[in-house]
Amino acid sequence: MTTLVADLKFELLIDAETIKNRVDEIATHLNTEYAGKNPLFVGVLNGCFVFMADLVRQMQMPCEVSFTKVASYHGGLTTTWQLRNDLDLAVNIEGRDVVLLEDITDTGNTLTYLIADLKQRKPASIIVCALLSKPAAQLHHIPELKYVGFEIENKFVVGYGLDYKEMGRNLNGIYQLLD
Ligand code: XMP
Ligand code: MG
Repeated sequence: MTTLVADLKFELLIDAETIKNRVDEIATHLNTEYAGKNPLFVGVLNGCFVFMADLVRQMQMPCEVSFTKVASYHGGLTTTWQLRNDLDLAVNIEGRDVVLLEDITDTGNTLTYLIADLKQRKPASIIVCALLSKPAAQLHHIPELKYVGFEIENKFVVGYGLDYKEMGRNLNGIYQLLD
């Protein structure tokens, strides 16, 4: 199945049912890992919003949600290397069990920057769940990256929260750029 997003053509890579099944699996792990705790889920805007909504609605422990925003892609297809902190966390995370939720890790630049920043605020623990990862693009090892939904090829993707030129976030599945 192909779809046009802005001026580019994409093909279906991961359908909605496959995503749901994987998100359910990650939720099961988190429900076990954080049973009896009170984790704080921190979403990295904008791309996290669909994944985060689906994941946190399955959490069975008392939990809170908050957001941060760091942009490395400024509407295009490639990373700019220049990170911009667009929105700082509004809560004190000292002593908290933080679960950082990211749509995708590519070079790992964004997560490395964010984790270093959050660690300075002295959380009790911090792990990362990323829906997608592009191992072939990875430049930084991220020990905190505990859950990855899917490892994908080093190709640009949209859908399920991810965008191209701010479009395509509403797609139910993940779509990959056609060569
Ligand atoms: P880095 O290189 O810092 O990149 O790990 C992570 C951030 O870049 C964005 N990104 C993408 N966005 N389709 C997107 O819509 C992609 O294929 C893609 N690859 C990386 C994303 O915002 C992520 O937070
Ligand atoms: Mg993002």
